Amino acid sequence: MGPMPERFPNLHVVDHPLVQHKLTGMRRKESSRAEFRRLLREIGMLMTYEATRNWPLGSITIQTPVAEMQAPCLVQEEVAIIPVLRAGLGMAEGVMEILPTARMGHIGVYRDPKTKAPVEYLVKLPPARGQHFLLVDPMLATGGSAAHAVDIVLGHGAEPKSIVFMALVAAPEGLAVFFERHPNIPVFVASLDLHLDERAYIVPGLGDAGDRIYGT
Ligand code: PRP
Ligand code: URA
Repeated sequence: MGPMPERFPNLHVVDHPLVQHKLTGMRRKESSRAEFRRLLREIGMLMTYEATRNWPLGSITIQTPVAEMQAPCLVQEEVAIIPVLRAGLGMAEGVMEILPTARMGHIGVYRDPKTKAPVEYLVKLPPARGQHFLLVDPMLATGGSAAHAVDIVLGHGAEPKSIVFMALVAAPEGLAVFFERHPNIPVFVASLDLHLDERAYIVPGLGDAGDRIYGT
C-alpha cells in the first residue's frame, strides 16, 4: 500500500491480497446480491485498517492484571463515518464493525442522468468539533459526488486534516477532478481503474454499485 506520487500524490491504493481478491469477486457480473454485499462490507473493514493508519497515537497509564504501563491510545477518539448514499451505506457497515463507537452522518447525492452532476437530497451530520471524518462511497467516477461530499463536510466545519475519503474503485478522470478541488484530502481506493465510458461508468469497474446492492 502506498501513495501514487507520479500523478496523484494523495491517492493510496490498498493492494493487500485479501482486498484485491474480494474486489475481483465484486466485479464479476455473476456474483449474487448477497455475495456483493458481503464482500463490500468485508472490504470496508479491511480498508479502514489502512485509511486510519496515520491517526495520531498518544498514551495513557493503565493497570494490567500484572503491572502498570503506558499504553497507546488514539489521541482523537471521536470518529464520524459518512456514507454517501446509497452505495456508501453498504461499505460503511464494514467500517462500523471496526469502529463500533463511531457516529454516523449521511450525505445523499445522486448523479443527474443527463449532466452527471451531483444532486444533493439529504445532509445529516454529527458535530464537527474534534472529529475524524471518514467519508465512504465505493465508486469515484467523474469525481463530482465525492468532491461535493467533501465540500459539504468542510462547510459543516470539519478540518481538512481530519478528513479521509474511502472508495473501492476510482477512474483517473474523476480523481483529477477531485484533487483539483481538494488536493489535501487523502483518498484510499482498492483500484485505480482505466477510464470512464460514454455513460460515465467506470471501466472495467463493477457496474452500478447501488443497483447491485439494493436490486433496483
Ligand atoms: C454512484 C456512486 C457515487 C457516484 C459516483 O451513486 O455511489 O455516489 O455514483 O459517480 P460520480 O463520481 O460520477 O459522481 P449514484 O448516483 O448511482 O446514486 P445511488 O448510489 O443512489 O445509486
Ligand atoms: N456509479 C456507479 O455505481 N458505477 C459507476 O461505474 C459509476 C458511477
